[in-house]
Amino acid sequence: MTRQTIVILDFGSQYTQLIARRVRENKVFSKILPYNTPAKEIAALFPKGLILSGGPASAIEKKSPYPDKGIFKLGIPILGICYGMQVIAEMLGGKVKHTHSREYGKVELFIDGNKDLFSHLPGNFTCWVSHGDFVKKMPPGFITSAHTLNTPLAAISNKKRKIFAVQFHPEVTHTEKGNQIISNFLFKICSCLGRWTMQSFIKDSVENIEKTVGKRDKVVLGLSGGVDSAVAAILIHKAIGRNLRCIFIDNGLLRRDEPQQIKKVFRNIYHLNLSYVDRSKRFLIRLKGITDPEEKRKIIGSEFVKVFEEEAAKTKGVKYLAQGTLYPDVIESISPTGAPSSRIKSHHNVGGLPAHMKLKLLEPLRELFKDEVRQIAKELELPEAVIYRQPFPGPGLAIRIIGEVTGERLNLLREVDRRVIDEIRSANLYEKIWQSFAILLPIKSVGVMGDMRTYENVVALRCVESSDGMTADWSRLPYEVLEKISNRLINEVKGVNRVVYDTSSKPPATIEWE
Ligand code: XMP
Repeated sequence: MTRQTIVILDFGSQYTQLIARRVRENKVFSKILPYNTPAKEIAALFPKGLILSGGPASAIEKKSPYPDKGIFKLGIPILGICYGMQVIAEMLGGKVKHTHSREYGKVELFIDGNKDLFSHLPGNFTCWVSHGDFVKKMPPGFITSAHTLNTPLAAISNKKRKIFAVQFHPEVTHTEKGNQIISNFLFKICSCLGRWTMQSFIKDSVENIEKTVGKRDKVVLGLSGGVDSAVAAILIHKAIGRNLRCIFIDNGLLRRDEPQQIKKVFRNIYHLNLSYVDRSKRFLIRLKGITDPEEKRKIIGSEFVKVFEEEAAKTKGVKYLAQGTLYPDVIESISPTGAPSSRIKSHHNVGGLPAHMKLKLLEPLRELFKDEVRQIAKELELPEAVIYRQPFPGPGLAIRIIGEVTGERLNLLREVDRRVIDEIRSANLYEKIWQSFAILLPIKSVGVMGDMRTYENVVALRCVESSDGMTADWSRLPYEVLEKISNRLINEVKGVNRVVYDTSSKPPATIEWE
């Protein structure tokens, strides 16, 4: 059976990915496409339904983003959300107007008719809105299916044409019963079966890899210790066994015990064909005397590619480079308003291999969100320490040592880092906060220990809350936790006599210091 898909046309809403996830939480696969994707391309995916997202534009301005009008001839159910509703109204002969005052926040919704989308729901409930325009006149053939006190046409529908539109946002949790509305659309209106599960994903993915790679071709993959490359590796290993060669490069900038743990998990438990390549000396030599953050990053990035290339080239018959790329990195970001895309991490990803190696890319996770990868990791019984590991930057501890990176300073920071993580874990905070780590500063300060004057290093503690690393706020850690960490660092780590806490948010600061 081919996979049932719901296509979401993206008009630039900050909630587009949330819509995709809500659909998937109902065990139906969803795919986000740019708003102007030709109807033919959409039809080629045989979607069970189409959702038009919200967006920041106004449907009645000259350059408003409009979808291909062919979507209305595909004969599949359509759900328009907010801007998506207004675009449907304007394109099918209705009228949209600017409101005098923007409606924003929670409002009461009253159901009027056409129960399909609102089945199994009470006659009124709270929904969440954020709009400056509203549908003033319905297109011919439509009826009102819900209203609010301010918006007579809060939901409209044309049952015959299977077109439904809502002014509010069913995908956000502030809309009570939002999930019921989405599931009504999926199951009552689009007749989806809801069979897309993580088990089904694993099965399909392994079969696809088997088919793509075949019996003889070899695949190389850079294992990093994070959950993405780990899950990608295990899926590919299931499909082609030892024809997958995982390369784990120790750049000497990792946390304490990390290389040993990775070897233990992936060699002993998962029996991966894993090459552990220790190049810590080489990286350290290249970093000697370097203090500029960008230069550090460049050196580490290019050295990594070189080492990886040397290693990959040792694998005879290698045809593929596997990567743990995720869906948010693949979605073509759209910007109907001309605003710059919010992608800030491109510089973070190690550039891959030089073109002359002519490797094809194998990216088994490119359709998945992070939380889905974690679910798969659970299915594959990966250790919790891998599944829930906080993000760790590619350049490692080098960008947390301000100034020159030396073996001695790395060891000092490793001792600090271990204790920070220890305490954050014992306070039960490790999985609640996005990242918790320490930065070794290039300044010394005076202290007194016993009767002795000390002149030692200052360490900064950085703990942040975030949902994707794009923006972040500093964690309001309990004073007791701060106190414990500070005491342990100063008492137990030789060379540290002062700990400060970083209270800057991102923006304007960044999460890492370099
Ligand atoms: P910034 O410091 O830009 O970091 O606020 C945002 C998130 O990205 C991580 N980060 C990196 N991840 N390679 C990576 O794989 C990198 O070079 C890199 N630099 C920053 C950072 O830890 C945070 O989660």
